[in-house]
Amino acid sequence: MFHLLARSAAFGFAGLALAATPADWQTRSIYQLLTDRFARTDGSTTAACDPATAGYCGGTWQGIIDQLDYIQGMGFDAVWISPVTEQIDDPTRAYHGYSQQNLYNVNTNFGSYEDLQSLAAALHDKNMYLMVDVVANHFGYNGDITSTPLDYSTMTPFNTASYFHPICWIDNDYSNQTIVEICWLGSEKDPLPDVYTTLPEVRATYSNWIQGLIANYSVDGLRIDSVTNVEPDFWSVFQKAAGIYAVGEVSDSDVALACPYQDDIDGLLNYPMYYQLTPFFESSSTTPDNLVAQIAYLNSLCTDYTLLAPFSENHDQPRFPSLNPDMSLAENVIAFTLLFDGIPIIYSGQEQHLDGGVSPLDREAIWLTGYDTSATLYGVIAQLNAIRKFAISQDSNGSYVVYQAIVNYYDSNNVVIRKGYTGHQIVAVYNNFGSGKAEYTLSLTGTQYDASSTVMEILSCTEVTIGSDGTLTATVKTGLPLVYYPLSALSGSGICGQ
Ligand SMILES: *[C@@H]1O[C@H](CO)[C@@H](O)[C@H](O)[C@H]1NC(C)=O
Ligand SMILES: *[C@@H]1O[C@H](CO)[C@@H](O)[C@H](O)[C@H]1NC(C)=O
Ligand SMILES: *[C@@H]1O[C@H](CO)[C@@H](O)[C@H](O)[C@H]1NC(C)=O
Repeated sequence: MFHLLARSAAFGFAGLALAATPADWQTRSIYQLLTDRFARTDGSTTAACDPATAGYCGGTWQGIIDQLDYIQGMGFDAVWISPVTEQIDDPTRAYHGYSQQNLYNVNTNFGSYEDLQSLAAALHDKNMYLMVDVVANHFGYNGDITSTPLDYSTMTPFNTASYFHPICWIDNDYSNQTIVEICWLGSEKDPLPDVYTTLPEVRATYSNWIQGLIANYSVDGLRIDSVTNVEPDFWSVFQKAAGIYAVGEVSDSDVALACPYQDDIDGLLNYPMYYQLTPFFESSSTTPDNLVAQIAYLNSLCTDYTLLAPFSENHDQPRFPSLNPDMSLAENVIAFTLLFDGIPIIYSGQEQHLDGGVSPLDREAIWLTGYDTSATLYGVIAQLNAIRKFAISQDSNGSYVVYQAIVNYYDSNNVVIRKGYTGHQIVAVYNNFGSGKAEYTLSLTGTQYDASSTVMEILSCTEVTIGSDGTLTATVKTGLPLVYYPLSALSGSGICGQ
């Protein structure tokens, strides 16, 4: 409880959001940004930044504060920022924040201690949450240890060899879980010293550190890096100490490998779904069979997959438009991401249809887009966040967020998903044809819309009458997704003029 008291006493002005729980997060949607690449303090929209050349481009916490309207304008009410800790002084390995050197100092490239507190306060003023990325598995190290022994004293607070596992390399071999947990990421030329996380003293230090971090910066949620590289019971201790919602990075397609981590961490990035989403939406020759099977599999193996976080892009994966530049497909994958079960994450730049490929090319400077709020996908995201938020608000018993999506229909190129109780259910029709596809219709039964009632397709603001036998005739134009909601239930939402 110490951290709660400390936070409310010291930062009461930031208002709201003490110890945000999984339930508090379930209604939200998250905008993920790389602090170095989102916005600069000088507000520049021209400052050069070549993602291929790793290094700092000048993004700051103050820059984010100045662009919160841009983020909120799409309907997001949470922002995931890069790790905040002090980094090694090699910019090429540190601009992303995953090479920390001192747990107790901030990365001054991003701003000061006060700037980070101001970011939390500015978010809370807008009823938005702050999610901070944290790394407990490893530190960064500025040096090649091929010939010179590693100098442990450069790391704070773990400043001797005894706090780290003896050196051995994972070397991309993930077949032996013991090795994944005790050996090091990186290589002799770019080592990431692997913390000895089973030591009671290390665990106590991390627990104390995370409570201090949350209190000092009024943090509402955590994104946890490199989860599979640490033994699960460490996370259980860490999660309990944190006392706020955390979403862990288990970057595996295998549901059986990912789901068990939910015993220790509230939520997980939904990598198993990601690995089915992109293959389906990027190619019309992929059927949705695997995607549909994955929904059932997640449902059966995860403790609560409505606490997972679906996403379709992030800073470690090639952007979707780099796989297929078609705009209708981008709309489909974004709609699926935002309307599927869980707490959705959209990666900064998706709204501008950025197309960077394999990392680091997917880490473009967002300011170079000019924060164009008239971009097609910016508007699509705003509309999707609006309908999701409205559907949630209409469920007085909080049932929308825990309602597990039902696959209503699928064929080789279409998948139709229904979510929410009858009367305010969203039915979404997705396809992977792309914008060149000629208009076609699907006659859908089982949507549970009342016979002869009217539904609104909210992306085109088109009213559709349900047949007297209850059939919904969905007309797909230029391969765009369709998202339906009962017209009568839309009243007062402001969506499509209602
Ligand atoms: C995994 O690696 C550990 C440590 O090297 C070793 O003791 C163990 O036998 C290995 N397990 C398997 C299944 O190979
Ligand atoms: C939080 O603030 C306290 C008091 O200033 C300080 O001792 C502690 O190191 C800080 N913790 C972190 C993680 O910044
Ligand atoms: C929530 O309300 C819906 C109707 O809106 C109802 O069908 C459902 O059973 C309720 N769920 C719970 C858990 O009370």
